[in-house]
Amino acid sequence: MSDLLTYTVNKQHDETRQGKALDLDLQPVGFANSRKFYIESYGCQMNFSDSEIVASILAGEGFSITTNLFDADLVLLNTCSIREKAEQTVRSRLRTINALKLQKPGMLIGVLGCMAERLKSKFLEEEKLVDIVVGPDAYRSLPQLLEEADGGQKGVNVLLSREETYADISPVRLDKTGITAFISIMRGCDNMCSFCVVPFTRGRERSRDPGSILAEAKDLFNKGYREVTLLGQNVDSYKWKREDNQQNKDAEVLMNFAQLLECVAKVDPLLRVRFSTSHPKDITDDVLHTMAKYENICNNIHLPVQSGNSACLDRMNRTYDREWYINRVDAIKRIIPGCGISSDIIAGFCGETEEEHQDTLSMMEYVQYDFSYMFYYSERPGTLAARKYEDDVSLDIKKRRLIEIVDAQYQLSLKSNLNDIGKTFTVLVEKTSKKSEDELCGRNSQNKVIIFPKENYKVGQYVNVIVESANKAMLKGKAVGLVNDYII
Ligand code: SAH
Ligand code: SF4
Ligand code: F3S
Repeated sequence: MSDLLTYTVNKQHDETRQGKALDLDLQPVGFANSRKFYIESYGCQMNFSDSEIVASILAGEGFSITTNLFDADLVLLNTCSIREKAEQTVRSRLRTINALKLQKPGMLIGVLGCMAERLKSKFLEEEKLVDIVVGPDAYRSLPQLLEEADGGQKGVNVLLSREETYADISPVRLDKTGITAFISIMRGCDNMCSFCVVPFTRGRERSRDPGSILAEAKDLFNKGYREVTLLGQNVDSYKWKREDNQQNKDAEVLMNFAQLLECVAKVDPLLRVRFSTSHPKDITDDVLHTMAKYENICNNIHLPVQSGNSACLDRMNRTYDREWYINRVDAIKRIIPGCGISSDIIAGFCGETEEEHQDTLSMMEYVQYDFSYMFYYSERPGTLAARKYEDDVSLDIKKRRLIEIVDAQYQLSLKSNLNDIGKTFTVLVEKTSKKSEDELCGRNSQNKVIIFPKENYKVGQYVNVIVESANKAMLKGKAVGLVNDYII
């Protein structure tokens, strides 16, 4: 019971329909009679953020959350479909949980997220012990589906929506640091990258009411949070149009991403702002100038390249080529000197030649990425690539190319980190270091992890730290004083 978190919840639904963040008054209490749910999240930050919405919906129904699987009456897996391996991980986890259910017959198992959306009712046939299957736009129907499942009726709701943004739901923060939080600013994706399953699992792109985003940021700041990350599959195409006209292509745009970023930055100079993910075709100089103008907007851009070769990018349907990408990187380096740049890279996409692979390596060298997420191509059923191209690069070659990309990235990360030795950065302290109670851990504006001796510093403070040593994963240093103003 020690790690059991239980809460009482004051629902204020009626006051909050029009974009005002729902204020859930969460007070830890110790009553053990309410039903408990346990949730595990897989995949991207968006899924982790959605789990906080699900937690809020369930809290509103009187459920309390437990971090102990064995205590749960309801077990939810918020799943990812991005690669075959992601789905395998979920299936094997389901097997473990199903074994547990045999000893705990009343327990309900729910599958949420992208795999639920992709497989729909097939899930109930394939995984016999799953009780409910709920897609990313259908979380408001969870209470009803659970009621039906209690009565022995299995349920599926995988309807995608063109409007749902959960704008009025105030997420229950599952991250325990209380310093950093995600804010979803949009949902879905209208790009059709040929390798990607997301447009099928998350539906059409839609932006969230900026009023509700700002209210959420302010609320977080007032509760002691010091960093927000604005989330979307393609944040640069954020658009808020005249109220009743979000789906109309020609409707006047009242707020674009650069303007939203500026509004969030103005919430408080002590609130750091990050965002993810930027699409190279959409990131504008306006966004870069806004970043340069506000010191609390962190100097880090996640700009997935996927491939460094124009022909391969064309097959991927990324709608930019090598030159365009280089132009965007040059603009970042010109407008925000010292800005961290990170990437996603796919090795061995359909038809990728050795020369094309070399272009990816040379692109990495050109940009000097500080960090990358790297994968080998995994064909996803129903995607453009699965229908149009043969998955013709052998697994051996995919793996070899991926190793070359990973090795190149490790060298770049190490070089970038060694280059920081002797520099002083402002670190937002997030937590005590995992390795030692005597050390604190945080990140600098460029999103690099920095560890330093605790002394009298505390979580939530901005501390200037001089870097003394580095490896490919992080920097180590020594505090040189608290930051009195907000030079970040
Ligand atoms: N919206 C983001 C990425 C979302 S998915 C963007 O446009 O950049 C995260 C990453 O997973 C992608 O950037 C891509 O590198 C990788 N990915 C997506 N589909 C994949 C597939 N079928 N095989 C391998 N990697 C894939
Ligand atoms: Fe997938 Fe492309 Fe959309 Fe990113 S932009 S989610 S890679 S389709
Ligand atoms: Fe995975 Fe869905 Fe995110 S497929 S990467 S959880 S949008």
